[in-house]
Amino acid sequence: MFSFTRMITSVTAALALASINSVLAAPTPDMSPLAARGVPTSRFVIYSDNWVTGALPAATALAGYNVVALSFLTLKGAVDQASNWASLPAATKAAKKDEYAKAGISIVASAFGATDTPTTSNADPVGTANTMAAFVKSNSLDGIDVDYEDLAAMNRGDGAAEKWVTSFTQTLRGTLPKRQFILTHAPLAPWLAPNNQFKAGAYVTIHKNVGSLIDWYNVQFYNQGLYTTCDGLINTSGGAFPGTALLEIPKNGIPLDMLVIGKPATAADASNGFMDPATLGTCVKEAKSKGWNGGVMVWQYPHADASWIASAKGGAF
Ligand SMILES: *[C@@H]1O[C@H](CO)[C@@H](O)[C@H](O)[C@H]1NC(C)=O
Repeated sequence: MFSFTRMITSVTAALALASINSVLAAPTPDMSPLAARGVPTSRFVIYSDNWVTGALPAATALAGYNVVALSFLTLKGAVDQASNWASLPAATKAAKKDEYAKAGISIVASAFGATDTPTTSNADPVGTANTMAAFVKSNSLDGIDVDYEDLAAMNRGDGAAEKWVTSFTQTLRGTLPKRQFILTHAPLAPWLAPNNQFKAGAYVTIHKNVGSLIDWYNVQFYNQGLYTTCDGLINTSGGAFPGTALLEIPKNGIPLDMLVIGKPATAADASNGFMDPATLGTCVKEAKSKGWNGGVMVWQYPHADASWIASAKGGAF
């Protein structure tokens, strides 16, 4: 995580080192955009869907995060904050991009969301991916997050959803190469374990197909009547979706390091699944002590802010 403050500290430390011993080459701080340096090991992701004047606040308002996801790119084009960003004058966009890059915060667009049903509505995965990848590039973004929520298609269990997401992801990566662009997915937690409700395997299958093309998963641990205690969130999910607590998921072939714990900012930001950030922080700390370091995702700004993520890190990051 590179907050603006930390970056200043590391520059100072590097200069101090150089003056003490000029034989040792001081490390040059890397000021290039985060995405160009490879994906961060621990990701702190905030979605922004509610309208913000100027699209993004001062980067200092998002201290503690390293990715902001502008929502949404839909089948009908950019809406809400993705559209807001796209409408900024080029110079304003460039200045914001620079400010955020210096603060270590990548800016991505999030695709689809709860209202799009790409497979059920027979969208073309290749054409859709090409359109969205072009949007990312022409709007100076660091990448794309795939918030595929075609529940009906996953529930049909005929493999069409998995095939659609696979093709979509392959096409996106063709235009947005790894380590140059961020490509994440935001699956519902129940999709990360075998379950009779998703006979074609949901993200267990998608991960087998294209997991190597995906940087990490912003897992939605909410809206399922589960995951509201540390035990249920990280140890044992139980309920209708057993095997989908954080530490259980790797049994299904999806690596722990790819799992980012996603939560609503407030109880009003989801149907259920909310945990206050301080309690969440205790779960995060426990999971970190067991070798996980994936990070935290929150839906959404401005209901979550810098102090929210500071609490949710539980002092572990
Ligand atoms: C999670 O499981 C471990 C044992 O594997 C236990 O020590 C820990 O207390 C559990 N965490 C919670 C919050 O119940």
